[in-house]
Amino acid sequence: MLKNKNIVLGVSGGIAVYKACALTSKLVQKGANVKVIMTNSAQEFVQPITFQALSRQPVYTDTFDEKDPSKIAHIDLADWADLFLIAPATANVLGKIANGIADDMLTTTLLATQAPVYVAPAMNVHMYQHPAVQRNLQLLDSFGYKFIEPGEGYLACGYVGKGRLEEPETIVKVLEDEEKEIPSYFNGKKVLVTAGPTQEAVDPVRYFTNHSSGKMGYAIARIAASLGAEVTLIAGKTNLDCPPNVKCISITTAEEMYQAVHEHYPNSDIVIKSAAVADYKPKMVFDRKMKKKEGSLHIEMERTKDILKSLGEQKQGQYLVGFAAETNDAVTYGKEKLKKKHLDAIVVNDVSQEGVGFQSSTNQVTFISKNGLEESLPMLSKDETAKQIFALIEKDIKGVHE
Ligand code: CTP
Repeated sequence: MLKNKNIVLGVSGGIAVYKACALTSKLVQKGANVKVIMTNSAQEFVQPITFQALSRQPVYTDTFDEKDPSKIAHIDLADWADLFLIAPATANVLGKIANGIADDMLTTTLLATQAPVYVAPAMNVHMYQHPAVQRNLQLLDSFGYKFIEPGEGYLACGYVGKGRLEEPETIVKVLEDEEKEIPSYFNGKKVLVTAGPTQEAVDPVRYFTNHSSGKMGYAIARIAASLGAEVTLIAGKTNLDCPPNVKCISITTAEEMYQAVHEHYPNSDIVIKSAAVADYKPKMVFDRKMKKKEGSLHIEMERTKDILKSLGEQKQGQYLVGFAAETNDAVTYGKEKLKKKHLDAIVVNDVSQEGVGFQSSTNQVTFISKNGLEESLPMLSKDETAKQIFALIEKDIKGVHE
């Protein structure tokens, strides 16, 4: 469970630093990647070289020791972490982090991380019971930090009581239990996604298309795969790379998308159609380049097949999600499309808004389901929007409506 996990281990200065050495070694033996940050006081007990040898990684001691000019070390380390553990956490470090003080590498990196934080306190029994320390622990609890409570027993200061850093084996066990991955609802589900524009040729060198970048559909496919789904992405021409663990199928025209989608439809559990499919294509496709002539040019266009509508008509238990890009009355039009195309849900966006739509990296959508779940999401990155869409799909399928 800890294999390949990136763990930042913050070591602050107490006699229990020696146990943090054993802890580092045990985490490495479990297959974790461990990077250690030491406070100045911690270095009074043990030299950084010990942790460097045990973790086989450089040890961080100074916020201003920036070895790589292309990175800011504490931000890079904070982003790298899947899990942040402070062991031992002294009364001083607890006080600082409870109050947002960031005056060294450990506390600065901690403030910058978004990883789950575990704190293993260690100190004299009376220090541990002091109201200031107890208040700080409560504050940290309110931040969502998790504790590995100190054990009771003989303390280095001569007292017997609560304050001893929990044994490294127990700390590792707690982390393993907490970090057990619960399989997501989408694990093993077959998810079919469409993305990007279609191109409709008029002659060998010219075509009709639209501004779709494919970013939203690719984000949906990427997130679905990260949730454990088996993902097929059918996409028009974009500049994007196929996301990891996704089967990508490249198409050009609406007709090719129709064929590819219908081929995969019977074997899909969830279908999300975020592609911007052309509604019309030239009626005649010239096999030679058209030559310019005097006067204006008329190209007769005919309707393409409405892929989404055809899927709605042939539904056999699939959960079908459409997209609607509108410039006005977005929710009203969205609801009409939801009904007309027999969808389970529609994701509506008002593309007239700044930061919304085709080329943008952000999006602001409203999710509306047939069952009456309606939720407007805030402006988010397309990845975050995709995550929220899956959370809403799960909620809708399970029938959880507030
Ligand atoms: N869609 C499709 N096949 C088409 C056109 C659109 O599958 N030929 C899908 C898109 O992938 C999207 C949804 O339908 O999920 C968009 O609905 P649509 O009614 O086509 O939107 P607009 O083209 O914006 O419709 P209108 O022009 O009527 O507003």
